[in-house]
Amino acid sequence: MPKLTFIGHASFLLEEEGKETLVFDPFLNDNPQTDLKPEKVQADYVLVTHAHFDHIGEAYEIAKNHDATIISTAEIATEAQEKRHNAHPLHIGGKFSFPFGFVKATLAFHGAGIPGGHACGFVVNYYGKNIYFAGDTGLFSDMKLIGELTPLDIALLPIGDNFTMGIDDAVIAASYLQAKIVIPYHYNTWPPIEADPEEFKAKVEEKTSSKCIVLPPGESYNF
Ligand code: NI
Ligand code: MN
Repeated sequence: MPKLTFIGHASFLLEEEGKETLVFDPFLNDNPQTDLKPEKVQADYVLVTHAHFDHIGEAYEIAKNHDATIISTAEIATEAQEKRHNAHPLHIGGKFSFPFGFVKATLAFHGAGIPGGHACGFVVNYYGKNIYFAGDTGLFSDMKLIGELTPLDIALLPIGDNFTMGIDDAVIAASYLQAKIVIPYHYNTWPPIEADPEEFKAKVEEKTSSKCIVLPPGESYNF
């Protein structure tokens, strides 16, 4: 049974016993929501949505420690390869199969944090389960297509406002995506992104058919 752990801020770990471990946007050292150190993250794949510090974080250090593969946009993957890390470049709309399943890069309306690039989100198929990780993004109506093209078990959505969707836009995103489970992130890390996840949960469960699970940092969900 796959296990998804919310490390804190926008960092998640996806793992299953005896299978590959994936880490998403591993921002650890300066992340007020976690004490996890990069040397403790034994990831095989490091997925990076964009190069803002709170997303690329310790991606390269983790990749180096464990000979992991960075999966990101072409611009970030190229930078990773220049630093002699393993990297697989993707770009928006593109999908590639890995031993655990596929990763597809999706639209995200946000800065790339690296010259010439574009931020992205990911749809990840992990041993038959589909997870959408929105990255940092505003609301966009093509999220409907993401849910239509790949029936989602879990949608991970930012709710902190200011830099990304806030609660009410993220509720609309949840209504577009129609995932079985919605999990919020990118909130309460710093004052500009304070948000009440219980308000988000109540609105999601009132206005959509999805169930919302609020994971405190460090907590896991098995699915
Ligand atoms: Ni960002
Ligand atoms: Mn961010």
